[in-house]
Amino acid sequence: MRYDNEQVRAAAEQLRGKFESLEEKQAIRRAPELTALYEQIKTMSPEKRASFGKEVNALKDEVEGWIKDHNLPTLKRPAIDVTAPLDFNSSKPELLPTELGSRHPLMSELEKIIDIFVRMGFAAVESRQLDDDYHMFTSLNFAQDHPARDDYDTFLTHEGLIAPAHTSTMQNRVLKQYKSNLQAGRAISAVIAGRVFRNEDLDARHEHTFYQLEGLYVGKDINAGNLMATLKIFLEEYYGQALEVKTQPFYFPFTEPSFEFALSCPFCKKKGCNICSYSGWIELLGCGMIHPNVLKEAGIDPAVYTGFAWGGGIDRLVMMKNGIEDVRNFHSGNLNFLRQFS
Ligand code: DAH
Repeated sequence: MRYDNEQVRAAAEQLRGKFESLEEKQAIRRAPELTALYEQIKTMSPEKRASFGKEVNALKDEVEGWIKDHNLPTLKRPAIDVTAPLDFNSSKPELLPTELGSRHPLMSELEKIIDIFVRMGFAAVESRQLDDDYHMFTSLNFAQDHPARDDYDTFLTHEGLIAPAHTSTMQNRVLKQYKSNLQAGRAISAVIAGRVFRNEDLDARHEHTFYQLEGLYVGKDINAGNLMATLKIFLEEYYGQALEVKTQPFYFPFTEPSFEFALSCPFCKKKGCNICSYSGWIELLGCGMIHPNVLKEAGIDPAVYTGFAWGGGIDRLVMMKNGIEDVRNFHSGNLNFLRQFS
């Protein structure tokens, strides 16, 4: 765009070189170069005002155009074929400006959760997205044809590798990795976060891909009271309020005894609301005392050491906290959904 008026031309030149980021672009609407021109319109004689005002308006339209171009729906980029073989000689794909991105709500929440556990002395480990039968079942005390295997129906590769249905697949590795802590007189304490997969019929509450956080604590004289206290302290810190917790008996092959763990509803303080289905309690996760066979399998003597473990979904915590009704939003790539959390 060429401007006839010298002042408008100078202002346009100034403004064009002025921004890097989207915030700067948006701020340009209130740039001193523009406001000075507007101020000037007011002081002009009616004859001059018409043509000058027209030019200033054209510049304003140009500026609006830059801002609009930075809005995702109008940003056109050639599609990236993710299935194409990687060619190091091809030019780099044109990506959207990074300032338009935002953290995924699952990841920002996970960071807060891990931060609390790290402050409580837990190591943070990431789980794998492809595993084997040994870590998925055998190391966790699932007998070969035990029906509990059916509760973890997930996806297999042609080679027989497993997309893990829970983060418990990491227990054996983490116990072995930190075993030396025990010899040094310290406990094993770790949280393991990661993506897990299940062969589910999808609906608002069920996704084939979601996130879990596993916790492990092994030492001398560790009991279920330690488990309850650890989870209670975490949840009170996370929700920033005093909470009640309770358990009921459950079954997992890798814990004995096994529990289902519930907390008093932090949203209605047990009065009853739609988040806790008017029961005042939220059943949050599975947990228990680590089965002696699981410890043995990692080379830890269950006669000397005991420990507790838990595993629970992260998606649900984030949904409850933010009033998200459909779990499928998380992996939808729907920018309107994601931008609410930016
Ligand atoms: N892995 C279980 C599941 O996804 C949850 C679980 C239960 C994890 C008990 C544990 C545990 O570590 O001790 O259903």
